[in-house]
Amino acid sequence: MDPARLNINDQAVEFPVLVGTEKEVGFDILKLRGSTGAITLDPGFANTGSCESTITYIDGEAGILRYRGFSIEDLATHSTFVDVAYLLINGQLPTRPLFDKFNQDLTHHSLLHEDMKKFFEGYPQNAPPMSVLSTIVSSLSAFYPGSEKGEDFDVNITRLLAKLKTIAAFSYKKSIGQPYVYPRNDLGYAADFLHMMFAVPSEPYEPNDLLVKTLDMLLILHADHEQNCSTSTVRMVGSSGADLFTSISAGISALSGPLHGGANTAVIEMLEMIRADGGDFSKYVNKAKDKNDPFRLMGFGHRVYKNFDPRARVIKKIADEVLGQLGINDPLLDLAKQLERIALEDEYFVDRGLYPNVDFYSGILYRAMGIPTNMFTVMFALGRLPGWIAQWVEMKNDPATRIYRPRQIYMGENLRPYVQIGHRTK
Ligand code: SDX
Repeated sequence: MDPARLNINDQAVEFPVLVGTEKEVGFDILKLRGSTGAITLDPGFANTGSCESTITYIDGEAGILRYRGFSIEDLATHSTFVDVAYLLINGQLPTRPLFDKFNQDLTHHSLLHEDMKKFFEGYPQNAPPMSVLSTIVSSLSAFYPGSEKGEDFDVNITRLLAKLKTIAAFSYKKSIGQPYVYPRNDLGYAADFLHMMFAVPSEPYEPNDLLVKTLDMLLILHADHEQNCSTSTVRMVGSSGADLFTSISAGISALSGPLHGGANTAVIEMLEMIRADGGDFSKYVNKAKDKNDPFRLMGFGHRVYKNFDPRARVIKKIADEVLGQLGINDPLLDLAKQLERIALEDEYFVDRGLYPNVDFYSGILYRAMGIPTNMFTVMFALGRLPGWIAQWVEMKNDPATRIYRPRQIYMGENLRPYVQIGHRTK
């Protein structure tokens, strides 16, 4: 493709144009400042690519999401979360022997070092689960010094994937004053998580097969999503040379915000507020449209999807099926559907391409599993972990990677003489 030309300060400067494998076009502005003295300005980076990547592809207009070339619909229907984690990190779906080895390693490493339990004891019972998760993941660097390459590093990837669900379940048990339930080696990833969350010493517990399958699918749907806020955070922290655990800990913190992964919790809180208010949808739709009102329709809108979020479509479909099969009549599901219908009849939302995103319906399914609302974003982090790891490894291995250090346009005071304000004695 012909280079892009920029005329600035009577200078005509050309920039190479990259075309991706899905025909996305980008200008390579590596030499922009050196050749013009100017920089670009793009708050929120809505028009700025930070890297070339081979992991995930999103077409926001067409509602397409693919992990390593496989459609999210195919993976959600036919694959398992452990297979998808392997795919994202290694680039290919595992053969049976490779799956067995990977799965066995995840089982083998799912225990926490007994000394790590002291961290949980130090927290108050109502500690925010995402801050517990972020802190304890960061502490893994102390227990397993982060070797950056070779076998040790691969083990650290496996340790993190294996232990995050144990950390999450332990933080829940701590929050309800129940004894920790240790991992069971005979259970798969999703089943073992539900077992660690809900088993109690006094009675046998076998995870519900439908809920296990549903959780596994939800984890797949959350596994990666290009250069979103938390993934960019993981890459940015890693670009400084910080180790994997520290970088992922930062990603967990970024994900906790209500505009990002925290939205799944905020959606349920919003639906409960609407229900308590007598289901007055128009009031809340109008609040969401009111520029003077900070209220937003949580679970609606997306930086990239301007038609529909394919993950939301899958989740909405399975929510009906799962609640139907379990005989659960959750009034919030009907409320969510009514709110979606009313919003999408309103030109404010349609004109801005605001549709339900991955967070709009996911909480309905977590509720059906008995997972408390304040743990919903932890569930998002469990799913996103393999994507964060894959993106971090890709950043480390990319020869083009430099420490992330954006520029700015300074709009402050010009040089001014120092004047002593008020009378001060040295
Ligand atoms: C995730 O990036 C990813 O890929 C993230 C994610 C992933 O998998 O990693 O997909 C996960 O974070 C999903 C998004 C979860 N967040 C929410 O549901 C919170 C509610 N949504 C919004 O806050 C918002 O839509 C964002 C944060 C998702 C996107 O913000 P943008 O791209 O910066 O869009 P914007 O705020 O500039 O909005 C554009 C317009 C504005 O109106 P105008 O200035 O044009 O008049 O749309 C309006 C906004 O006011 N708008 C909303 C709205 N979202 C956008 N108005 C009411 N309710 C909303 N939810």
